[in-house]
Amino acid sequence: MLELEFTVNGSPRKIESEARLTLLEILRETFMLTGAKEACGVGECGNCMVLIDGVATPSCLVLAGDAGGTAIETIEGLASDGELDPVQRAFVDAGAFQCGFCTPGMVMTAKAFLRDNPDPEPEAVKQALSGVLCRCGTYSRIMRAIDQLTGRGI
Ligand code: FES
Ligand code: FES
Repeated sequence: MLELEFTVNGSPRKIESEARLTLLEILRETFMLTGAKEACGVGECGNCMVLIDGVATPSCLVLAGDAGGTAIETIEGLASDGELDPVQRAFVDAGAFQCGFCTPGMVMTAKAFLRDNPDPEPEAVKQALSGVLCRCGTYSRIMRAIDQLTGRGI
């Protein structure tokens, strides 16, 4: 067993984990943070995206042991004092989801990207979100949500 300490959505957490478990499994099954979804399980779809030290990362690819000492952000940590984060608000306003399965990964990826690029070129937005697959094909509304945040006419 590994002893791990990290910060999850701003709260320090300390757990014991089997070395074989992924960060996605720890988040979902130990912390009951089920926003990040397992779909492909091999780093292809981005539906399990969380932020590790501010970087959008597929949590299915990260062994829990490698996440020790990091700061992890998940979709559950975005809203504050009952108010949605602006990225969440924009997705709701734009109706940027159908089944919603990809939405946490899409929102977290957009969040990390817009933190670093508050005034992005449209192509950069598409490139940044290209690692998250939406099987419902809601891309035009997702772009509308990003446009609401940036005003760049994506
Ligand atoms: S489930 Fe992690 S990238 Fe698809
Ligand atoms: S809204 Fe269904 S997968 Fe994207």
